[in-house]
Amino acid sequence: MSLTPKFPVFLHGGDYNPDQWLDRPDILQRDVELMEKAHVNCVSLGIFSWALLEPEEGVYQLDWLGEIIDRLWQHGIRTILATPSGARPAWMAQKYPEVLRVDAHFRRRHFGERHNHCPSSPVFREKTAAIDRALAERFASHPAVILWHLSNELSGDCFCPLCQQRFREWLQRRYGTLDALNAAWWTGFWSMRYTDWQQIEPPSPEGQMSNLGMRLDWRRFSTDQCRDFIRWERDTVQAVNPELPVTVNLMHRFWDYDYFALAEDIDVVSWDSYPEWHTKPEIETAAEYGMWHDMMRSLKDQPFLLMESTPSLVNWKDVNKLKKPGMHLLSSLQAVAHGSDSVQYFQWRKGRGGAEMFHGAVVDHSGRDDTRTFRQVTEVGLALEKLQAVHGAPVEAQCCILYDWENRWALDMVQAARRGDMRYTETVTAHWRELWKRGISVDFRDLRACTDLSRYRLVIAPLLFMLRGGIEEKLRAFVEGGGTLLMTCFSGVVNEDDLAFLGDAPHGLTDVLGLRAEELDTLGDDESNEMRFADGRCGRLIRLCEVVVPQGCEAVAVYGSDYYAGQPCLTRHAYGQGQAWYLAAEPDAASLGVVYDELLRGLSLPRALNVPLPEGVVAVRRGSAVFLQNYTGTRQRIGLPHPFRDLLTGQEAAEFLLPAFGVAVLEER
Ligand code: GLA
Ligand code: ZN
Repeated sequence: MSLTPKFPVFLHGGDYNPDQWLDRPDILQRDVELMEKAHVNCVSLGIFSWALLEPEEGVYQLDWLGEIIDRLWQHGIRTILATPSGARPAWMAQKYPEVLRVDAHFRRRHFGERHNHCPSSPVFREKTAAIDRALAERFASHPAVILWHLSNELSGDCFCPLCQQRFREWLQRRYGTLDALNAAWWTGFWSMRYTDWQQIEPPSPEGQMSNLGMRLDWRRFSTDQCRDFIRWERDTVQAVNPELPVTVNLMHRFWDYDYFALAEDIDVVSWDSYPEWHTKPEIETAAEYGMWHDMMRSLKDQPFLLMESTPSLVNWKDVNKLKKPGMHLLSSLQAVAHGSDSVQYFQWRKGRGGAEMFHGAVVDHSGRDDTRTFRQVTEVGLALEKLQAVHGAPVEAQCCILYDWENRWALDMVQAARRGDMRYTETVTAHWRELWKRGISVDFRDLRACTDLSRYRLVIAPLLFMLRGGIEEKLRAFVEGGGTLLMTCFSGVVNEDDLAFLGDAPHGLTDVLGLRAEELDTLGDDESNEMRFADGRCGRLIRLCEVVVPQGCEAVAVYGSDYYAGQPCLTRHAYGQGQAWYLAAEPDAASLGVVYDELLRGLSLPRALNVPLPEGVVAVRRGSAVFLQNYTGTRQRIGLPHPFRDLLTGQEAAEFLLPAFGVAVLEER
């Protein structure tokens, strides 16, 4: 299966901004030569080109873009064509101020920056459709154009009167009556009751922030607004050529929209990944980004595209570090190992001015092709050509972690325990890391999308505070049918309106887990408790310690101190054909490892390689290939049970020497 059927190979290239160089035909000519040299086969064009494509209202100038696309095509280089809605031209903001966003303080933004449009504005919709249609009519059937890149890194909300009105209409559709809305939002609290739909405003620091149900609905509404805008652009371009797939480039730092929901409206998931290599142990950075690669693959349960990454460094962090030798290939192939069918960069060439003139690029201001960055990029291009057997291959996982955006929003807002510091995503990453370290592949599912749990043998549900979509019944059936489930503290507490369940927690699952949760204790940063196993092993517990009352479960480990010393902190319970585990506290990283040793014992989940690997080295399987990755700054010797062939070097051996930040892609002989 290919994400880009017109060009079913690994894509290598990135954001190309010829619009900044139209007065330098020599440079544009040189770009094509350099791209061929760097084994670039695909660029993204037109992301911020609106002012050039439509210099005056209704006057379209697409010839320059056509010439670029044609020239690249003559050299076999494909185009991912962007719609330009990520940044609008000045004339539009001047003539139609309604296209600009209103912020959470109810102030209208001025012209400038990017990603600054109102998704409701009829004028913005109309102008976007007109330019999108013009682009589609001219280019959607061009043989070189393989994918639409809609807008850029969609994010944020608009608080303008139009968007407010749409919010009220959205609420009317959701609740039908004000009584139902008042009940869902628990407006008996602090005299919040609404008696007229027009009284409802979006959550704002200038107004209401303590209505949690409303804040949750605002996030859902914003997701729907964004989805509606995506569909608007998608339907416009696909009306011209329904065969050409669309993507939007996602960003893991943004939490505004529910990405599982949003992924339903696009054909291909792509994302922009900017790891902070060399600012902490590299294996930690690799864990964070590897987890997000798996998430992006899971959104549509198919491979994804790495749409942006830097060829060397970025310019927008406080400390902008270079990638050390080896890291560029390693980081790029990490994405491929987890399901990416591309390695694309921001940016091809550094501009002479503007905020990103010093952001890493394949071609620096020197214009040279004998730089370290250029060589490293070429190395990636060559590597991808050698890995074609992996292109399109699935990652097969027997383990699934539940990750839910609505749960994330609810935990971010909750006024309890470690307020504002519940670390949902970090906790999920910590659990993911234990599996990844052991070479066990993992999928993610959100609470609606997990209709297929029976395909997994192990399901992990960290901090599942909110239950929705009947997940408790799905988890029960999963365990009953022979699955192993691990849940953690502060779970099954609220429903999808963020209203507490009445009765024992975790709601609907106490008999499956063989316990009920009674109280949640919170530890300060300098406090800890102990996790004691029967055989004398000990672990360290931090941040959250829940006191549970056993109702048939077996204690695998107990608390070591405080008034709840001796009470269980890790439990196991046989239910139906399966097992339900409960981790009542938060272990530190090393202790979570001990929990996983216990949990995985006897499960015999398939691992990428059945050999112990040195600390900092991981193996990830995709299709028939095993990506062996060394995240340490030293050479590592890895002995294998039998000979493998490295697809990158052709070397066949039962032992591989990986250099510092080295990678090998192994296939069994
Ligand atoms: C984002 C944007 C790009 C560029 C890069 C810089 O991902 O999509 O246009 O600004 O960041 O890292
Ligand atoms: Zn608006």
